[in-house]
Amino acid sequence: EEKRRQRLREAVELAARLFHHLLMNTEHGEEARDYLTRRGIQRSTMEEFQLGYAPDSYRFLLSFLKRRGFQEEELINAGLIAQRDTSANGVLSYYDRFRGRVMFPIHDSQGRVIAFGGRLLGEGRPKYLNSPETPLFHKGKFLFNLHRARKSIRKQNQAVLFEGYMDVIAAWQAGVTHGVATLGTALTDSQAQVIRRNAETAIICYDSDTAGQQAADRGLDVLKNRECIVKVAQMPHGMDPDDYIGRFGSQAFIDKVLAQALPFTAFKLETLKKNVDLKDEDERMQYLTQAVEVVAQLPRAIERDHYLRRLSEEFGISLDALKQEQRKAASKK
Ligand code: CTP
Ligand code: MN
Ligand code: MN
Ligand code: MN
Ligand code: MN
Repeated sequence: EEKRRQRLREAVELAARLFHHLLMNTEHGEEARDYLTRRGIQRSTMEEFQLGYAPDSYRFLLSFLKRRGFQEEELINAGLIAQRDTSANGVLSYYDRFRGRVMFPIHDSQGRVIAFGGRLLGEGRPKYLNSPETPLFHKGKFLFNLHRARKSIRKQNQAVLFEGYMDVIAAWQAGVTHGVATLGTALTDSQAQVIRRNAETAIICYDSDTAGQQAADRGLDVLKNRECIVKVAQMPHGMDPDDYIGRFGSQAFIDKVLAQALPFTAFKLETLKKNVDLKDEDERMQYLTQAVEVVAQLPRAIERDHYLRRLSEEFGISLDALKQEQRKAASKK
């Protein structure tokens, strides 16, 4: 069993080296190199992240790895090769999963390659393709870039959580070296545990679109449950961190986006506020009720007290009334 896993490791490691070589040193990789350069990725960053290129061919990797003595079965297991329905003619039954894509190797916490994410050079679907679950790769357990970022995360006692590979890499180039990303899925409890083991504070820096903000809202709760100090970064609507850095620069990203990230409760209250018209009396009362529900869920009494006082001042409602509502909200849970 361990021997089988070792073979899979060798296959993905070889694939990573082949893809990287193609990107950096060959004519096959020129278009991908240009693409990354246009997106502001420096050559040294391509080296650091071992970025690669998978050629637009059905049997490039397959032939290469077969010549190195790997069986189709193993390569399917490693998530590198897919199998096609052969009922028609049975000739081309195995083919490369990743074709015509920039390749982002995904490493485990010890820095061994276990899987890939691949992005198309242009438009098309799916834009990103990830390795399937394999014996080496369980999506919900890994964070992209953790092995590189861990030292920096510990030193700063803080992790920054991104949605995408390109966001992590753009942030890295901007000097933000404590960034990690979930792999196209919602943050899981086991990922939150990994973050908490390395740092006290997590800044969620997801895309500023509806999907990203909903994911941020869920991630917030998952991290809070693991007793992280959680903050949420804000960017102009429609932008993601990579866009922001490209447009406004590294310093603005550090000073305006990361440094001014909203604390957990402030973010929740802001989100609620966006959905109501505070000039309308009924809606104002509705907001207050929901705000008190948010406060009621806070684990620490001092925090609850602090935010209730703020609401009391902001809306001119007695603290007593708010406390009553809070008790009601707490008992409903
Ligand atoms: N993702 C995925 N499959 C998709 C779309 C997205 O797995 N079809 C994951 C990828 O990990 C991607 C992340 O979700 O990096 C964020 O998605 P998106 O915001 O669409 O990608 P960007 O990183 O912004 O892509 P780009 O800037 O390259 O256009
Ligand atoms: Mn290299
Ligand atoms: Mn997005
Ligand atoms: Mn994005
Ligand atoms: Mn993007």
